[in-house]
Amino acid sequence: MTIRRDCLDRDDSDPLGPVRRRFSLPDGVIYLDGNSLGALPVAAADAVRIAVERQWGGDLIASWNKHGWIGLPQKVGGKIARLIGAEPDEAVAADSVSVNLFKLAAAAAAVGAQQGRRVVLTEGGDFPTDLYILQGLAGMMPEVELRVAAPGGIEAALDDQVALVLLSHVHYRSGAVRDMARLNAEIRAVGALSLWDLSHSAGVLDVDLNRDGADLAAGCGYKYLNGGPGAPAWLFVARRHQAALRNPLSGWMGHVRPFDFADDYAPAAGIDRWLCGTPPILSLTALDAALDAFDGVDMAAARARAGALGDLFIERVEARCAGKGLALASPREAAARGGQVSFRHPHGRAVMQNLIARGVIGDFRSPDVIRFGFAPLYVRRVDVWDAVEVLAEVLDSESWRDPRYQSVAAVT
Ligand SMILES: Cc1ncc(COP(=O)(O)O)c(C=O)c1O
Repeated sequence: MTIRRDCLDRDDSDPLGPVRRRFSLPDGVIYLDGNSLGALPVAAADAVRIAVERQWGGDLIASWNKHGWIGLPQKVGGKIARLIGAEPDEAVAADSVSVNLFKLAAAAAAVGAQQGRRVVLTEGGDFPTDLYILQGLAGMMPEVELRVAAPGGIEAALDDQVALVLLSHVHYRSGAVRDMARLNAEIRAVGALSLWDLSHSAGVLDVDLNRDGADLAAGCGYKYLNGGPGAPAWLFVARRHQAALRNPLSGWMGHVRPFDFADDYAPAAGIDRWLCGTPPILSLTALDAALDAFDGVDMAAARARAGALGDLFIERVEARCAGKGLALASPREAAARGGQVSFRHPHGRAVMQNLIARGVIGDFRSPDVIRFGFAPLYVRRVDVWDAVEVLAEVLDSESWRDPRYQSVAAVT
């Protein structure tokens, strides 16, 4: 049986332990929401200050060249590439996940339509924006038919009409991980392309897009990559597809020579064509610096740590909170989970608000799911232990019944 002392000892001897010092975390808070908004890397705060005061404030517009602002989307993409098993020229930072999914799905659907394939396939119950984007796309492209499989039904819905399959690698609610290599093989076998939403994977799992045969992907910059609120997202296009796929948002930053100011659009070669408008330099600066927190971090070790933290959490919750209305809503096996563990509780919203008021920060997904994220770069075993002690107190005392914890905030 584990005791709190064991947690402290194992934290001390963990090779990833010192990485926590790369983050600025408030005292008295146990932060288990890195799956929603990653913690602040010390280097990101410094980099943004310099970009604002010295670059913008001092060098003004010369900074586009002098400080390499113009190349930041590709530079950041190259850093993300290492974390997702891609080549540096296969990823670029841009826009939001929603916009990137639109760009990639529209491009793939257009190529599919030329081959007589009408269907864009996804699964119900996935993250809403993914579904909404495909609904919008089908609404504006009469040649596209949206097929939404029931949860668990994706393989049965594959056929030779399918042009593209959009799936989340890790489910936002349960944390369940899909077998990317197997699914890519099945998608390829019917002649379709895969588009992966890696929002809950990049920076926590040892993703290997090229080994696993992925075609396209996009993901968040503000979760496990710690790029800050509203950080730019990123996208991946496998080299073998870069020449054939066209960005439907044909903005000037994706032009082969933006500063020629030509009247006609001509796409840049390679990944650069997936840019659209002027990159958000302050946000990219934060993400660029944040990614340095991964220097020297082996993603297999990071995943193993996230899994071990999740295992400890489940073990402690079941030991300390049995009979208090919690039901595990994530896979029990670490190998089948992303970086989070979710539980259902009939009063999950109030329980989470009570936890947050007591300094244990997770989040809530309607109607009854409370999520706890174990970002492997800064969450410690002792945090897991202490968080469960607070959860047990909240449930034992039923302090969550206090009217203060019944409100519904705009963001959960
Ligand atoms: C799986 C998934 N996809 C997409 C998004 C949203 O991406 P964005 O707001 O960058 O469009 C989220 C946000 O939580 C998410 O969890």
